Amino acid sequence: MKNGRITPGSNLAKGPFHFLKIMRASSYVILILLLTWIGQAGCSGPQTGTEKRERFVDSLLGEMTLEEKIGQMTLYTSGWTITGPALDSNYRQYIIDGRCGNIFNAHTVGYNMELQKLAVEESRLGIPLLFGYDVIHGHRTIFPIPLGEASSWEPALAERSAALSAREAAASGLNWTFSPVADLSRDPRWGRIAEGSGEDPLIGARFTEARVTGYQGSDLSDRNTLAACLKHFAVYGAPEAGRDYNTVDLSKRTIREVYMPPYQSAVEAGVATAMASFNEINGQPATSSRYIEDILRQEWGFEGVLVTDYGAIAELVPHGVAADSAHAGELALKAGVDMDMQSGIYMKNTTRMIREGILEEAIIDEAVRRVLRLKYDLGLFEDPYRYLDAEREKEVVHAQELLDHALEAGRRSIVLLKNEPFNGKKLLPVLKQPGSIALIGPMADNEVDIMGSWHAAGDPGIVVTLAEGLKNRFPGSEIKTTEGCGFYGKDRSGFSEAVRLANISDLVILAIGENYVQSGEAASRSDIGLPGVQQQLADAILKTGKPVVTVIFAGRPLTINRIDENLPAVLWAWQPGTRGGDAVADVLSGAYNPSGKLTVTFPRNVGQIPIYYSTKNSGRPFDADNKYTSKYLDVPNEPLYPFGYGLSYSEIRYSNLELNTHEISFTDTLQVSVTVSNEGPYAAEEIVQLYTRDLIGSVTRPVKELKDFTKIKLAAGEKQVVTFFLTADDLRFYDIDMNFIAEPGDFLVMTGPHSADLLSAEFKLEK
Ligand code: NOJ
Repeated sequence: MKNGRITPGSNLAKGPFHFLKIMRASSYVILILLLTWIGQAGCSGPQTGTEKRERFVDSLLGEMTLEEKIGQMTLYTSGWTITGPALDSNYRQYIIDGRCGNIFNAHTVGYNMELQKLAVEESRLGIPLLFGYDVIHGHRTIFPIPLGEASSWEPALAERSAALSAREAAASGLNWTFSPVADLSRDPRWGRIAEGSGEDPLIGARFTEARVTGYQGSDLSDRNTLAACLKHFAVYGAPEAGRDYNTVDLSKRTIREVYMPPYQSAVEAGVATAMASFNEINGQPATSSRYIEDILRQEWGFEGVLVTDYGAIAELVPHGVAADSAHAGELALKAGVDMDMQSGIYMKNTTRMIREGILEEAIIDEAVRRVLRLKYDLGLFEDPYRYLDAEREKEVVHAQELLDHALEAGRRSIVLLKNEPFNGKKLLPVLKQPGSIALIGPMADNEVDIMGSWHAAGDPGIVVTLAEGLKNRFPGSEIKTTEGCGFYGKDRSGFSEAVRLANISDLVILAIGENYVQSGEAASRSDIGLPGVQQQLADAILKTGKPVVTVIFAGRPLTINRIDENLPAVLWAWQPGTRGGDAVADVLSGAYNPSGKLTVTFPRNVGQIPIYYSTKNSGRPFDADNKYTSKYLDVPNEPLYPFGYGLSYSEIRYSNLELNTHEISFTDTLQVSVTVSNEGPYAAEEIVQLYTRDLIGSVTRPVKELKDFTKIKLAAGEKQVVTFFLTADDLRFYDIDMNFIAEPGDFLVMTGPHSADLLSAEFKLEK
């Protein structure tokens, strides 16, 4: 013992451990106490929590065989759900043998208790299992898909969703979620755009950070929190052609400026774990890339566990960087990957490679330390059953607070895209209960697809469908429901019944969109129109001449030009989750005035993709009178709906953009004020957005970049002055040498209701 520390393998380390080992799990508590006591006896001052943890981890590591160490670096699915090919059904035996220290896709107290007992009571060292799961937007109670929730522009809402998801998941025996998804995406063909926060780095960073904070709280050992997992590192959201898992090849500047901020915000928020992405980035598969060591660990200081995605080590072979699976394992280990999800490669090859001197055991020790620290921080050594309380599970799962929040988050994520008069009168809000409502479309009474992709353990049994939501909100109306068609194929046999119902009703609500597997993982689409014959269904209903409100449920932007042209009222509901039906009904009735705005651009057709608001100008910017400018022959440059767009039932006006000065130095703060008025008849909420443009840069700069935003409440007739503060730090970018700097010169500052409707003023950043 040197300076009161127990070094691995020392007799003192062995002593207490050998003695306690036989007592299994509960012994860890005694071991922690004993090590604390030994530490204090040998130290001049009291030990910090970190010192205690290090002592414990070192001591335990000193007891572990190489196989047991590698077991802590191994993660297997319990077999409930699989998203890849390599299910290994021996996981129970591996747990007993100490060869698998972590399990995913197992949940519920009963089941996880059974597995935890195998680890704690039957494995040699009794090291508790870590239980991971894809709690992406809720566990049993499902909140809106993350892209939908981002439309609220309220990171605090997402933080609460994450905190409540954590509470419910932890009560179901979990301690680790594979969330948040920080992948920024500008390509709606990519189905996983649903899981992120959209196209903008600032929005992505604020939402990712909020979600990490929500899941983890301030103490991982709290029974209401989970360890979060930053994923998918890195740049998974920019696959070529929008095809999932495909190559990513982007400039370093774009990667740094656009794609990295959300990932970095998670590290700054203290995320406990991270997952490497499936894709390659500029020639290196993420799972074996230098991004992990150079950026994540060295530059950003991430100290947590880095896990692979499903079977991703094995995929280094088809990627073409590894000759065989053993080589793949070596590359991943050397890149700093701590845990192997599902490929089993670490388990099969590492011991031999260390014995043959191909790998140093120190790499393994470092990875195992990270895993053990996480288990320690989660309180699993103190009590491996701390998340396994059947009574608490009953109380927390589906608790009213969660259901209430699902409604609130659902309402706040809905975006009103269009509300034009029909026969001289706006259809929304539906203030007077119609005598009869025809509810038509495959989303009319659908309790599964309304939860969206990755609803994993989401419980369809408690979902409020749109039909049920409308019945709750319009009890005096007769509501008749028919699907009209499905999500696939060409079958129009349901159209005649749909048209018949429309004809005999006072109001038609058309509920269409994507089902839950038409977005999400492995759900890229080359045509992002309404799937199946839903457009034709809409055309048929429109022909009836009845008032029609269209509600679209989807996991990504869709090209809905024909709907936008022809139908008077269009509500974008995303996939709003467990209380989705109530949320949509509240918006339709005006019980909630819609306040969501898009965080992703809606293209007119796939040929415009990638499409995003913060584009560069080019040397030949669009000019309608000059053929030789940057444009299409067949479609405008503008999107169908721009970033930041969304309507209210009220009329919101912007005026008086004012700056406190038109020149600032590098140490000054610019104050930007704008008057926002609610000139309509309803109380409203408004998302006020602030953009800048660097007019002349040493490298080209986007025509607009979001720098700040806020959401305000305005009573009918109320005006408010909103003030933003900008400093030189907000104006930084990567120069030609990749230095992150602000350059003196002229800037535009812009504010308004969305990225294509902005007031602007100029200012100068002085040297
Ligand atoms: C594959 C997905 O890419 C990832 O997001 C998920 O966490 C894992 N499978 C585990 O289910």
